[in-house]
Amino acid sequence: MRNSVFLLFLVLCWSGGSANEQALPLTSTKISPDTEFVIFGTRHGNRNPDQFLTGIDRTWGQEGSLELTSIGKRQGYGLGVELRKFIGNLTTNNFNVSEVKYYSSSANRCQMTLQVAMTGLHPPQTYADWNTQRFDDWSPIPYTISDTLLRMYSVKSCKKSNEVWAPIDNDDLPELENMKNENTVVLEYLSQETGWKMTGNLGKAADLADNLIQMDFYNTSYPLWLTQPKVNGYDENELKKTIMEFAEIHPRSCAYYYPCRYLMGGLWLDDIIGKLNDANSSKTPLKVVGYASHTEVTLAVMKLMGIEKEEVTTSAGFVIEFRRRPNAAIRILNHDPNPIDAHVIYPANLTKELSDVQESDGFIRLSDFIRIVRPESYSDWPKQCDAPSCALDNPNGNDSSSTPTLNILSVTVFTFLAIWIQ
Ligand SMILES: *[C@@H]1O[C@H](CO)[C@@H](O)[C@H](O)[C@H]1NC(C)=O
Ligand SMILES: *[C@@H]1O[C@H](CO)[C@@H](O)[C@H](O)[C@H]1NC(C)=O
Ligand SMILES: *[C@@H]1O[C@H](CO)[C@@H](O)[C@H](O)[C@H]1NC(C)=O
Ligand SMILES: *[C@@H]1O[C@H](CO)[C@@H](O)[C@H](O)[C@H]1NC(C)=O
Ligand SMILES: *[C@@H]1O[C@H](CO)[C@@H](O)[C@H](O)[C@H]1NC(C)=O
Ligand SMILES: *[C@@H]1O[C@H](CO)[C@@H](O)[C@H](O)[C@H]1NC(C)=O
Repeated sequence: MRNSVFLLFLVLCWSGGSANEQALPLTSTKISPDTEFVIFGTRHGNRNPDQFLTGIDRTWGQEGSLELTSIGKRQGYGLGVELRKFIGNLTTNNFNVSEVKYYSSSANRCQMTLQVAMTGLHPPQTYADWNTQRFDDWSPIPYTISDTLLRMYSVKSCKKSNEVWAPIDNDDLPELENMKNENTVVLEYLSQETGWKMTGNLGKAADLADNLIQMDFYNTSYPLWLTQPKVNGYDENELKKTIMEFAEIHPRSCAYYYPCRYLMGGLWLDDIIGKLNDANSSKTPLKVVGYASHTEVTLAVMKLMGIEKEEVTTSAGFVIEFRRRPNAAIRILNHDPNPIDAHVIYPANLTKELSDVQESDGFIRLSDFIRIVRPESYSDWPKQCDAPSCALDNPNGNDSSSTPTLNILSVTVFTFLAIWIQ
């Protein structure tokens, strides 16, 4: 039963394609005059592929594999500039420690994306200026790194993560197997031309798609095997389209596959709900909270909170507005780069359950939102992860790092026994 529901779901949402195909609105939604608090979440900006294609005239990639590129920096900065236009004077341009809080995964590309987004959001003025000759519009801004929130897949003590990722990493999910079977001839052709064994793992096909994305951004000429494919029924456009369907295939699959979606995004959703509750009870002066993360985690939390979306391109994500008047309510928006420096914030499509309770201005009562999405979240991450509870203090500790605790315990027991025997 569960399996067939899952299969149906996969078929429904596994349409592939890329964000560029969907026309984005040209102008951003205006913030509601009643909005008191804004949360945004974003995937990192454009990054290098994991593996670089050889046999092309490559002028890019010097940052190293998976690192943020100049395009990615521009995308993240564009997001920050657009967010500032959106929030207006909700919080000052200057960083105010009581009013804003930012979080990143530990990955360089996420930290760097957040840094440039904060630069767009917080150009310093007056007392915050410090070297106007060299850095008129820039000041350092702090943020918190949390992998349990934003990169659970790399938290060492999260044993469950390996479990939920195994069928994805091995292309064992039925839909991944289908994709492989339907594209065997092309994958074999591409494997032969690139020297990467794509029939062995779709992750390699995703790497190829990532290389194509960079080649387009940096105007690299395509190799002959792409412009004049020697594979039946494929011209350049058709072959390129097929390759692009593999972009981010594993991270996207995680967000489609509920066990992975829940484990990757559930704690972040819990944090969002907590911050909305705090804002509602005016427990904090917070005005803006931002998070920078990865495809699987960002798409997962977006799906868990009821956004109907099948991919997040680099530097794309969500924005949530919260208001208390005339009633405690939130509005859920998407944000996307278009495609580099320009960024746009616009209403998200929501699941039927949420859109049924949406008001005409797009807001949803906070109580409805929490009632509907709370079951998709969790706070007890060591339990969900099948991690020892001491992992709370040291998520990335391994078994040997927990030995001292055991030693203290056994010393205590031993001392107690010794006293008792005496
Ligand atoms: C912020 O901007 C709004 C709208 O422009 C204006 O009504 C309000 O007075 C401003 N608040 C402050 C503190 O400047
Ligand atoms: C910083 O935020 C706090 C809390 O909202 C506010 O009281 C304070 O005036 C702000 N500081 C500046 C310099 O704007
Ligand atoms: C690539 O070419 C386009 C169109 O000519 C140009 O606008 C863009 O700046 C070029 N990109 C790079 C990274 O040189
Ligand atoms: C929302 O759904 C409509 C109808 O399916 C679709 O045409 C549109 O592109 C979607 N918009 C977003 C932002 O996902
Ligand atoms: C939000 O705060 C109001 C006023 O304190 C309260 O009546 C309402 O129950 C709160 N809503 C939620 C969902 O907690
Ligand atoms: C586990 O911790 C020990 C002691 O801190 C360290 O030597 C070892 O390299 C760690 N192992 C892993 C897999 O991180």
